[in-house]
Amino acid sequence: MLFLKDRGFQHPVASEITPHAVYEQRRQMLRLLAAGGGGLAMAGWASREALAQIPRPNKLAALAGARSGVAGATTMEKLTAYADVTTYNNYYEFGTDKSDPARTAGTLKSRPWTVAIEGEVKKPKVYDLDELLKLAPMEERVYRLRCVEGWSMVIPWVGYSLSELIKRVEPTGNAKFVEFVTLADAKQMPELNSRVLAWPYVEGLRLDEAMNPLALLAFGLYGEVLPNQNGAPLRLVVPWKYGFKSGKSIVKIRFTDRQPATSWNRAAPSEYGFYSNVNPNVDHPRWSQSKERRIGEDGLFAKKRATTMFNGYEAQVGQLYTGMDLKRFY
Ligand code: MTE
Repeated sequence: MLFLKDRGFQHPVASEITPHAVYEQRRQMLRLLAAGGGGLAMAGWASREALAQIPRPNKLAALAGARSGVAGATTMEKLTAYADVTTYNNYYEFGTDKSDPARTAGTLKSRPWTVAIEGEVKKPKVYDLDELLKLAPMEERVYRLRCVEGWSMVIPWVGYSLSELIKRVEPTGNAKFVEFVTLADAKQMPELNSRVLAWPYVEGLRLDEAMNPLALLAFGLYGEVLPNQNGAPLRLVVPWKYGFKSGKSIVKIRFTDRQPATSWNRAAPSEYGFYSNVNPNVDHPRWSQSKERRIGEDGLFAKKRATTMFNGYEAQVGQLYTGMDLKRFY
């Protein structure tokens, strides 16, 4: 694989098996289990036993999800290999090289973990991770993730709609935006002393964007809990926006009446807008956004593929931006 050739390290738990084949096998098993009555959520010990028999791409705890019923939540495109998803990352708290997070994020302590819900809500609360894991049925969703840098992946996430959580905390009439604050702990994160970004990494959405069923609170990928480098123990995945809108390792969700100041927008306002919807017609000031390279498939010298409006999710989210000038609100 040309693009990812020897990055000078060994993923500590990489396995020899073909991730995609293994995944398909497991998926088949999940289908069988689901068809067997009761559904996955109520799978008894026998089913769990069966699940345990299936070789997994890595050695993390299993986190199964029933296939999502949300429209557009699952593309049939070829999945990006587990090895690529977990070794080609942007997680600047653990280094700015794509290979850094897989190498250094072992120090992230993803348990115990809490997420504080604050601001304009009727029911503010500090949720424990275990509570969040049980809050709503886990779904599997295969989303395209398009990075602002011009590469993309197809990843089978496990989680549930962010709206499930939002509904439970009851936003007040003043809530117009949602701010996502991620972990910033210099003891666990080697790059926190660097000045690449203002920490903590903060992202935000308009409330109606956050309520769109496609916005996913993800706890896993490829049927397992999230690897640290992908944002353990929980992160956001907003598939119609550039990847940087999807904050990793979230510790606080705050509802506000004003548009939150986000890390990338503060760092370079002319380059990274608040909205940051994937849009092939609006270039980054320093490069075109009309094409992308699919990691693991399109080599360095291969023809890139066309980027689609809202990353292909226009039918689901286009109405959120009716009447808005998307060049101005980039
Ligand atoms: N979240 C935090 N806390 N820190 C980061 O540096 N990088 C973002 C986003 N979330 C980032 C983050 C960017 S630029 C992208 S493209 C995606 O995470 C990458 O997610 P992945 O590594 O799981 O593919």
